[in-house]
Amino acid sequence: MLRNFLKLRPATSIHIRTITIPSYKNDTVFNYGKAAEEMAWHRNRLITMPERFEPIGSRRDISEYQLTQLKALARGVCLTNYKGVSMLKTGLDLSVYSQLLQEVKPKSIIELGTYTGGSALWLDDTMRNFGVECGIYSLDCDVSLRDDKVNEMVSNQVKFLEGDTKNVKKLFPRSFLLALPRPLMLIEDVHVNLNAIIEHFHEYLKEGDYFIFEKTNPMLSENFYVGENNPRLYRDSSVVGAKYSEMGKWKMEYMRDFFIPHMDFYAVDTFFTDLYGYNCTSQMNSIFRRMI
Ligand SMILES: C[S@@+](CC[C@H](N)C(=O)[O-])C[C@H]1O[C@@H](n2cnc3c(N)ncnc32)[C@H](O)[C@@H]1O
Repeated sequence: MLRNFLKLRPATSIHIRTITIPSYKNDTVFNYGKAAEEMAWHRNRLITMPERFEPIGSRRDISEYQLTQLKALARGVCLTNYKGVSMLKTGLDLSVYSQLLQEVKPKSIIELGTYTGGSALWLDDTMRNFGVECGIYSLDCDVSLRDDKVNEMVSNQVKFLEGDTKNVKKLFPRSFLLALPRPLMLIEDVHVNLNAIIEHFHEYLKEGDYFIFEKTNPMLSENFYVGENNPRLYRDSSVVGAKYSEMGKWKMEYMRDFFIPHMDFYAVDTFFTDLYGYNCTSQMNSIFRRMI
């Protein structure tokens, strides 16, 4: 077979391919140095202006995210992985969190909803990267969901807690919350028992603390959605689906019901909710800074 093949190829058939490079006229050199200076100036101006903190009442519940982007992000969330552990965060949310953590430098973080523990691991690594000592408390009612690898990878700054947020008062008692080093960042990612959670933590948050609610954009996908056009991904699975269903307005409406009457206490940190466009975040109008 090989001999026949070689016989069929006359020696003259070996051609040297020539490469043509298209001519390109733009030789303008962009002034990156000046751009870096100007961008730093803009960032500094925006992050230091007091108007960055807006009452939720003056914010609109809209987002520059379009449905197609949200569907694509939902797919990415299902496939996101950190150090071999799945994590339910979009790339943009991770960037917003990273910059928020860098700015606020929390000394304590409470995460409600550990799931696999990927986000707690990421928070731990990120705070250590920034050189900030930060105690991280991550709670879930089902600790069996936590990936075993996480236990080996987290530092001793992380404590995993087991319990149901309906018992939030017992799980995070007054003495514990008052003693926590500040600023405290509280991340709600369980999507249940909001009354109990807000009522309890509102009593103990202090000026400069952050209260963050995940998945408040009504158009975010409620289910584990990987996209209609990706049959290879959802084939054979019973939970991860191809049908998109909207999260709906309930969580955003809840935010308004509590935070409008408490506008003196909390303001939306719009530098972060709007970093990539108006409310281009999973925390639509719900990255709150405690103001008093
Ligand atoms: C959306 S996942 C958390 C995702 C995780 N924070 C991340 O970014 O990867 C929600 C988690 O909340 C937990 N959960 C649901 N209801 C709860 C409750 N009442 N109390 C405590 N945890 C609860 C679930 O077991 C699940 O692990």
